[in-house]
Amino acid sequence: MRVLLHTGKGGVGKTSLAVATALGAAEHGHRVFVLSTDSAHSVGDALGRPVGPRPVEIAPNVVAQEVSALAELDRSWSEIQQFLQEMLRDDADELVAEELLVFPGMEEFVALRAVKEIEETGEFDVCVVDCAPTGSTLRMLRLPDLLRFFMENFFETKRAAARAVRPFANRLGVGRFIAPDAVFDAFDRLCGDIEDVHQILLDVDRTSARLVVNPARVVVEETRRSFAYLSLYGVATDAVLINRVLPENAAGGYFARWAERERTELSEIEQSFPVPRFSAALQPIEPIGVPALRSLARELYGTRDPADLFSRSRPIRLEKRDGRTVLEVDLPNATPGEIDVAAHGSELLIRVRDFQRRISLPASLIGLPLAGVMLEKGVLEITFSPS
Ligand SMILES: Nc1ncnc2c1ncn2[C@@H]1O[C@H](COP(=O)(O)OP(=O)(O)OP(=O)(O)O)[C@@H](O)[C@H]1O
Ligand SMILES: [Mg+2]
Repeated sequence: MRVLLHTGKGGVGKTSLAVATALGAAEHGHRVFVLSTDSAHSVGDALGRPVGPRPVEIAPNVVAQEVSALAELDRSWSEIQQFLQEMLRDDADELVAEELLVFPGMEEFVALRAVKEIEETGEFDVCVVDCAPTGSTLRMLRLPDLLRFFMENFFETKRAAARAVRPFANRLGVGRFIAPDAVFDAFDRLCGDIEDVHQILLDVDRTSARLVVNPARVVVEETRRSFAYLSLYGVATDAVLINRVLPENAAGGYFARWAERERTELSEIEQSFPVPRFSAALQPIEPIGVPALRSLARELYGTRDPADLFSRSRPIRLEKRDGRTVLEVDLPNATPGEIDVAAHGSELLIRVRDFQRRISLPASLIGLPLAGVMLEKGVLEITFSPS
């Protein structure tokens, strides 16, 4: 099943283009599922009809669902939640316990678990995901690293300690502070689910991000950074969707300077993103409802199938060169001053501005010193010394 993640800066048209893409893909004969994981759901608004946490058919061969992240969290976290609530019984209310439960990015990830379930039904060829704005999407992509760090550094120790002290703690009457095994098991299960979803996101042959952008300075700047961050987290972007371009016949008079600015930004977009670009004009009115969004899809993709893989790339890859192993990471538009690389035990830490990725190294590379780090034409090349 093809998975298309629509993300981008707030308000650029992610939801509209996600639904348009879905309707377009159905016109090409695919059975499509539209999934909204943005907790501020608006697939229903774009369609002009309610869509809720239960799947509904919105057009022939197109089913939509707005996942309730909280309900999903309840489904996986109930044991952990109960424990925390119990523990905090005297000094905090339930809301605090709920807040405590949420690792940054957890809600989006848990909502994305639906992708796996949709795939397992075998009834769909394409799953179009309307994601939260890029900031939240990136926070979500950081979660597996965060959880792995947590599991490796605290979790097992805590589990062992809990086992050891539980009998004494129970006798002393402070047992409620020690998590029972069920809590650890629930956490294990959730981590397993998250890892499954992560594997789908990293599978560049079926999952692609589509970055939605407007031809405006601040949007282009942010989207350039997002492209690199997605790549750092191993998610491949196969196309950029340029939305709300002023049409020629509206580019004069009052809007003349807007049009001029847009031309500059459009050429900036052309140079910044090494993937195909599709564009749609600013429509005369808000494109709401199936016919309007279907025609937006035709404007975007022309006769092409929106579910195609428009550009095939593996953003992070290991290469052999002159007997040395080189780890390459696509980081278009990044500059050397923004990048930091360090080997740390069995991991390689790569930082690009505010985002850090921990990459687990294969056994053959652990402990090898780094022979060089270079940024060459938008590709970060990290060379390991020969063993
Ligand atoms: N090409 C277009 N022409 C005119 N209006 C558009 C176009 N694309 C989207 N819109 C309108 O712009 C508004 C924002 O669109 P949309 O909700 O799809 O953005 P979004 O990126 O999903 O926003 P959010 O970040 O809030 O999720 C909506 O009113 C939508 O109808
Ligand atoms: Mg939206």
